[in-house]
Amino acid sequence: MSTPSSPIKAVRGTRDLLPPETALWARVESIARDVFSRYGFGEIRTPIFEATELFARGVGEETDIVSKEMYTWEDRARAQSEKAQSLTLRPENTAGVVRAYIEHKLGDSGQLQKLFYLGPQFRRERPQRGRYRQFWQIGAEVLGPPSAGSESPIRDAEVLEMLATLLDELGVKGWRLELNSVGSATDRLRYVAALREALAPVKHQMSEDNQRRAETNPLRVLDSKAPEDQALIDSLPKIADYLDDDSRAHFDAVLAALAACGIPYTVNPRLVRGLDYYTRTTFEFTIPSGDASGLGTQNALLGGGRYDGLSEMLGGPRAPGIGFAIGEDRLILALQAQAEAALNPGAPHLASEMWVQKLDAYIAPLGPERNPAALTLARELRRAGLSVEVGDGTFRLKKSFEAADKAARRIVILGEDELQSGILTVKTFSTGMQTKVNRAELAVYLSTPASE
Ligand code: HAM
Repeated sequence: MSTPSSPIKAVRGTRDLLPPETALWARVESIARDVFSRYGFGEIRTPIFEATELFARGVGEETDIVSKEMYTWEDRARAQSEKAQSLTLRPENTAGVVRAYIEHKLGDSGQLQKLFYLGPQFRRERPQRGRYRQFWQIGAEVLGPPSAGSESPIRDAEVLEMLATLLDELGVKGWRLELNSVGSATDRLRYVAALREALAPVKHQMSEDNQRRAETNPLRVLDSKAPEDQALIDSLPKIADYLDDDSRAHFDAVLAALAACGIPYTVNPRLVRGLDYYTRTTFEFTIPSGDASGLGTQNALLGGGRYDGLSEMLGGPRAPGIGFAIGEDRLILALQAQAEAALNPGAPHLASEMWVQKLDAYIAPLGPERNPAALTLARELRRAGLSVEVGDGTFRLKKSFEAADKAARRIVILGEDELQSGILTVKTFSTGMQTKVNRAELAVYLSTPASE
């Protein structure tokens, strides 16, 4: 047991995001918002917890997520007459978005709904680099009644093209798009039956995990990374051979549209993904794994696909859709690693510092009686749009200059003479130049780049 004075730490698998790294997070989010708005997406914010049944029905009882990774609790009844309800911290956001689509009858508009979200998700996985129990996703969903064109392959291609644009604008290097079609719900039933049949005589030769999956969720067998499983997996039936004509034509049309836009892709027949709602197109964007990626073995930056039957599974109207979620934690790790490699190979440092700008000015009052005047000057400059830090009367020339140099591009000295005369001493750290500036011209002076 911990003693009363032992410090309390963040829970395993969760972490604090601190400055300066949070500046990189904010920048990534602002680029994502900008791209989403250019493609006509609006933001949706759904609750962080939902009824457990939503995920059981939407994501699937037999999936790893639902069967072992969810944070679920019985929410206590408030009154005798009220039943306790099973609630769950959302492990992903697609089920919540589709629930909201149904609940708010968004399909009644007859329009395609294009929604994006940004926020924490929760899965009780074994923590490692790039894998956390609270992690962040940036995702988007396009769904609507079939009459709005929600089933069209152009929707799939547009989402993939948007992702390629987003990754390029974020500066992610070396991304790879892998995609597959898992067919319609009936194609999948036929394929899973064929898989079961093919697995029956060989499954005992597979890893322990795969023996279990062969029983509970044969599609997941294809995901195995265990070396002893690979040759057997290669010999199993391929989903491509079980697609009906419509699913085949849909997939071909997606590939043709990607080729027309010049988006490189690789078809990966094993890509079935870990959530049960997928139909037809499924995809992942990866970056090369290894140390330089910043991700170790967790090289899937994002994943997604089509879910034409999800709304009906949740009791809603027919509303085919497609979407994706980017693992924001992984995206940040990758950007940091790539920036470090480009900047200074072999000498890693916190690359996110590159994303942080120094403040415009540090105001140094000479003596405590100058504090109010310093605060007033800071207020004036901040209202004029400048970023300003204000010191206090304990300012000591050498030490405080060093601190100011770390925080700001320039320092403004505020002593009695300066207050009397209205002429302030300003030093620019990068050039070492010291000059006198009239208070009325200070804001303009401070906003000019240091090199001028
Ligand atoms: P997912 O593949 O389960 O799909 O997750 C998407 C991405 O979230 C992953 O590629 C990964 O980058 C990130 N991620 C997942 N688990 C963790 C974790 N424990 N720690 C850090 N990052 C993680 C979905 O969630 C679907 N809802 C995507 C989707 C949207 N499909 C259709 N629409």
